[in-house]
Amino acid sequence: MSRVTIVTGGTRGIGEAISLALRDLGYTVAANYAGNDEKAKAFTDRTGIKAYKWDVGDHEACLAGCAQVAADLGPIDVIVNNAGITRDGVLARMSFDDWNEVMRINLGGCFNMAKATFGGMRERGWGRIVNIGSINGQAGQYGQVNYAAAKSGIHGFTKALAQEGAKYGVTVNAIAPGYIDTDMVAAVPPQVLEKIVARIPVGRLGQAGEIARGVAFLCSEEAGFVTGSTLSINGGQHMY
Ligand code: CAA
Repeated sequence: MSRVTIVTGGTRGIGEAISLALRDLGYTVAANYAGNDEKAKAFTDRTGIKAYKWDVGDHEACLAGCAQVAADLGPIDVIVNNAGITRDGVLARMSFDDWNEVMRINLGGCFNMAKATFGGMRERGWGRIVNIGSINGQAGQYGQVNYAAAKSGIHGFTKALAQEGAKYGVTVNAIAPGYIDTDMVAAVPPQVLEKIVARIPVGRLGQAGEIARGVAFLCSEEAGFVTGSTLSINGGQHMY
């Protein structure tokens, strides 16, 4: 069976790797994106995966976007809440807008996407929700009170929704990536990033495909007994 799957932020970075991994495993993937039409078109031309534009932080847009995917591809069985932004800065210099945008998109996006799809999964008795958290939601990070709070919230959201989905065959899990070689991490000042990499026992940044393989496991039929868990993929940078 080709499960219909939405990967938010699915045309670039970790999201692109997840879209490709699930497509290669036979899922029917819709890749959501919010910004760059040209890059999304190039992604579709390159991969054959349909791209859908909406802002995951916009509740109504999520409902409409998911309805469109379902009309085009069929009922949605899997969502991967990957879309996220950073607005780093120390608290003293962080504006309310920097706080709010990160909460709205990174954490609000998970709620909006679940609201749009969880009911259908429950009715059909099968579903997979994978939320992309972060090492910085587990351990905190200087200059990221907004991002760390949103990502930490994702871990709580995951455990709460997992309890609601369990008896309906809907699993809800999180992945907590460490520092992965993407545009988001490339935006960290080089002298700061150097110090971070020095604290990763494996001695390098992670690759997007290393996160995608974890997502693929959590989305699989065989992972039905795994729910409410967080898989940390961080090169040993944070263990607990
Ligand atoms: N712990 C303690 N002190 C720190 C620190 C840390 N981790 N990082 C910086 N400082 C100190 C500096 O030593 C400096 O101290 P002095 O003034 O005494 O010299 C002071 O804080 C100011 O540092 P900056 O010059 O860096 O300050 P800034 O205002 O120019 O920049 C910042 C602040 C924007 C937060 C910058 O440090 C930064 O970008 N840090 C990286 C944050 C980060 O890791 N973001 C992750 C993005 S990737 C991601 O989020 C994906 C994921 O899930 C992992």
